[in-house]
Amino acid sequence: MSDRIDLAALPSDFLWGTATSAYQIEGAVAEDGRAPSIWDTFSHTPGKTAGNDHADVACDHYHRWREDIALMRRLGTNAYRLSIAWPRVRPDGRGPVNTRGLDFYDRLVDGLLEAGITPSVTLYHWDLPQALQDRGGWPERDTALAFAEYASVVAARLTDRVTLWATLNEPLCSAWIGHLEGRMAPGLTDLTAAVRASYHLLLGHGLATQAIRAASPSAEVGIVTNLSTIHAATDREEDVRAARRMDGHVNRWWLDPVHGRGFPADMRRLYGVELPEREGDLAAIAAPLDWLGLNYYMPATVADDPTGPMPRVRSVRRLGVPRTGMDWEVDAGGIETLLLRLTDEYGARRLYVTENGSAYPDVVRPDGTVHDPERQDYLERHLAACASAARKGAPLAGYFAWSLLDNFEWAYGYDKRFGLVHVDYRTQVRTIKGSGHRYADIIRAHREGARRAA
Ligand code: FCB
Repeated sequence: MSDRIDLAALPSDFLWGTATSAYQIEGAVAEDGRAPSIWDTFSHTPGKTAGNDHADVACDHYHRWREDIALMRRLGTNAYRLSIAWPRVRPDGRGPVNTRGLDFYDRLVDGLLEAGITPSVTLYHWDLPQALQDRGGWPERDTALAFAEYASVVAARLTDRVTLWATLNEPLCSAWIGHLEGRMAPGLTDLTAAVRASYHLLLGHGLATQAIRAASPSAEVGIVTNLSTIHAATDREEDVRAARRMDGHVNRWWLDPVHGRGFPADMRRLYGVELPEREGDLAAIAAPLDWLGLNYYMPATVADDPTGPMPRVRSVRRLGVPRTGMDWEVDAGGIETLLLRLTDEYGARRLYVTENGSAYPDVVRPDGTVHDPERQDYLERHLAACASAARKGAPLAGYFAWSLLDNFEWAYGYDKRFGLVHVDYRTQVRTIKGSGHRYADIIRAHREGARRAA
């Protein structure tokens, strides 16, 4: 299969990475001055996560980060996407800076650089300080301002060693899943709150972008969006229009404003919620980006449903297609379509796949190995599709596999394993899975090809 990955289409300085996020792996939730985030609150509320799992310990990465960097080296990766926990750095959101929290990331970044691994830092991967939620959270403008302040604190400390910055991870999930569907923290089901949250998240992104650039002119700033290819269930006019709405909800609502096109008018009409707009906001949201991050997992197929949830669609299950352990459809073609869409329709100058991966119920076999042919196949198919997009002109500069480690998969708890490395949560023993070894082989092959071509 890997022969089908057109590795020569990828630039010689391609970033081969893995990705994680703070709350999903760190543990140590009460150490060195960290305060609770909305995810601590949510996961400790009975019934919110599978098995009532929480991430108090998770992968204990806060203490085992050296071992985890050693794993990255064994995979041969040259980049790592991590996120910083806001509640470690500014525990009450806007109050005093907690230097001990920053010290952790300082050590981690140094460790990565010593190992020859380029850090890519995401400032917000869903762990809002609970103190800010208590003051209204993302539906309030103050949270966007607080985010920019926090961004400037972190940038001041790390920009001498970190070049690649992402403001937000998947604002869609924070706004729509956290405030509309209620399946993620803070667990609200309120359209007005959700639309306001989406607005302030993007405003926060724009203001944080300015703050990072002010701290370091050489910073390369982007945003990480999770996008999907959307299919209409039938070619009936109603379903085609439903697919257009779904595309607005999932893709255009996020992409248009950051590209200076404002919030899509059709979606504003559909939501019917007044945006808390002030003069200058749209320009701030559209701060020029150095790169755009694509998180891709699966496509969506929808039918019209006038009484259904926003955006008034019903998901349709396609039959006879492969699915992962999340029950998510496997469709590698989607990643190529989206990379090309970002290139052609949005004029992307540099793209990273900031997340892509799959969960399957892995087991460590008696001989100590983890055999995960389905994840290996998913990885290879998606890499082949990425290379194909690059061949057709997408300016793809890197790929970050989700995830380095099995970890706390939000509302799914520890049940879903996305790692290239298996984690035994009782012993914290890490085992590189078959897919991890495969990833290492692919990276090596690309490097050798690039060397020969030079
Ligand atoms: C993405 C999240 C990431 C992880 C993967 C499976 O939506 O950014 O934290 O949960 O999905």
